[in-house]
Amino acid sequence: TEPLRLGIAGLGTVGTGVIKIIRRQAAMLEARTGRQIQITAVSARDASKDRGVPLGDYAWENDPVALATRDDVDVFVELMGGHEGAAKAATEAALEAGKDVVTANKALLAIHGQALAEQAEAAGRVIRFEAAVAGGIPVIKSLTEGLAGNEITRVMGVMNGTCNYILTQMEATGQGYNALFEECGRLGYLEVDPNLDVGGIDAGHKLAILSAIAFGTKPAFDDVQLEGIQRISLDDIRHAADMGYRIKLLGVAQRTGRGLEQRMSPCLVPANSPLGQLEGGTNMVVIEGDAVEQIVLRGPGAGEGPTASAVLGDICDLARGSRLATFGQPATSLEDAPAAQTSLA
Ligand code: NDP
Ligand code: HSE
Repeated sequence: TEPLRLGIAGLGTVGTGVIKIIRRQAAMLEARTGRQIQITAVSARDASKDRGVPLGDYAWENDPVALATRDDVDVFVELMGGHEGAAKAATEAALEAGKDVVTANKALLAIHGQALAEQAEAAGRVIRFEAAVAGGIPVIKSLTEGLAGNEITRVMGVMNGTCNYILTQMEATGQGYNALFEECGRLGYLEVDPNLDVGGIDAGHKLAILSAIAFGTKPAFDDVQLEGIQRISLDDIRHAADMGYRIKLLGVAQRTGRGLEQRMSPCLVPANSPLGQLEGGTNMVVIEGDAVEQIVLRGPGAGEGPTASAVLGDICDLARGSRLATFGQPATSLEDAPAAQTSLA
């Protein structure tokens, strides 16, 4: 069998993590997929940077579009980030050149996911993005495969580890939001634009992706009702605790009588519930379906190993020949319905 040849654009936290797993586990991956997984070319901005992984075996491209369209690349792996610019241009170029795509880029998918899925479908290619939602938790695979026999009724979750870290540290240490925001900066937890984290935007991107998959609609980030954690005070935290609750930045997507509701906002959750017991930078996704009732998935939502783990899951699926598309399902009647506000039952 021919090897599966990868072109990897982006050699930061996630990209180097992916390369390390492929180098360390080459034999295991081949045994599991029946194909050798081979990196043929890589790209990043700075060719001279030491990235802690040997890159000498791979061709170097300065331009991600050139990488994405190389003849010796079967799958373009986009790990640069950003919803415009290089990531979007190279992903579109890859699909146009007949490559499958694997990406971790939640912003790109929440905003351009439907157009990219349509482009992929027209080209007979697939675009996979397990790592884009809740890092190491295989939540997209759970929805599309394990729960395929369910009508999904609700998806909820804590999907931004930085916000959950700030909120749990406010409780544990009595430090205020501003001090913890600064600590997150020092620890390198914040996105380049920190408002993506604390404004709920990053988590909103993830919710838009998840709800599109769960409810067969188009990803519609603009329809997510967003509120960040910037205004949560220590008093809010204490009052919640007095009543047996904790405050979490919680995403909820559910069917209502008037359409699909999607919101990402600070919520009171019972302290003794699974969501109420979530600590630190961990993520949790709760899925409810008509047959399964409720499942709870919990795990690391970020970081080199967990995120690369999810990217490898997609790469292995493609190596096995899976052509499963995750967006691009037939639209449902919910698609054009107005968002409706309901309370958390
Ligand atoms: P990093 O900032 O660590 O790495 C980004 C990489 O992309 C760098 O190697 C950078 O090059 C390269 N890059 C950026 N712009 C360009 C460009 N125009 N042309 C070529 N290369 C470029 O990001 P992460 O690894 O953390 O994230 C990658 C993706 O994964 C993002 O979409 C992110 O949202 C997503 N993700 C990340 C998670 C995490 O825990 N880090 C978790 C889940 C998803 P150079 O190094 O030379 O500057
Ligand atoms: N900034 C994100 C978080 C990274 O804190 O969860 C993972 O997507």
